[in-house]
Amino acid sequence: MTKRTFSISLLLLTFAITMAAQDIQLPKPKTTGGMPLMEALSKRQSNRDFSDKELDNQTLSDLLWAAWGYNRPDKRTAPSSRNKQELELYVVMKNGSYLYDAQNNLLKQVSNQDNRKAAGMQPFVSVAPVNIIFVADKSKGSDLESSHTNSGFISQNIYLFCASEGLITVVRGMFDAKALTTALSLNENQVPILAQTVGYKK
Ligand SMILES: Cc1cc2nc3c(=O)[nH]c(=O)nc-3n(C[C@H](O)[C@H](O)[C@H](O)COP(=O)(O)O)c2cc1C
Repeated sequence: MTKRTFSISLLLLTFAITMAAQDIQLPKPKTTGGMPLMEALSKRQSNRDFSDKELDNQTLSDLLWAAWGYNRPDKRTAPSSRNKQELELYVVMKNGSYLYDAQNNLLKQVSNQDNRKAAGMQPFVSVAPVNIIFVADKSKGSDLESSHTNSGFISQNIYLFCASEGLITVVRGMFDAKALTTALSLNENQVPILAQTVGYKK
């Protein structure tokens, strides 16, 4: 084995070890284009009439970046009180549940089950392809009141992205926090704050 092939093999091995097989490496988000802002605001609305059509990985990447991605090296598309950035987005889909790692544009698998039934009580929640759960990590020094406020900005980013991309969405305060804590294996510092369902219209 040459020195070069050895280095490449080592690199691939390191990559395989750091990224579990079930994680999803998202494509780079598309951060330009979209609908003019005033048009997106005109179209912003809640819609619960979801089909089961899935989002492709590019759309998922763009959606999550719009929601809570980095638009500067250490700051994001939504503000947070005292810049605590304490919110984490979990993505609940048919093939599993994932934690969005915005720096690495990676979905880290936390469950290989279909947890959509645990993501909300309304029937459309388990039909729609994507449920985003906003989880506050109290160990980051924020208070829950601020986390509720901060969630609103992320939610509106999702609303505007969906309006622009022809997706439908509804933000949800109605969910069973206990069921979600179990399904997502949350620890004692992690509190589900808000949920938002995303998909295509029937
Ligand atoms: C904090 C919050 C919690 C909400 N919770 C739910 C919910 O649990 N289920 C639901 O179907 N809609 C929920 N909604 C959506 C509202 O019903 C919706 O925004 C409202 O009817 C106005 O409709 P619009 O968004 O189309 O303007 C919630 C909205 C907000 C802001």
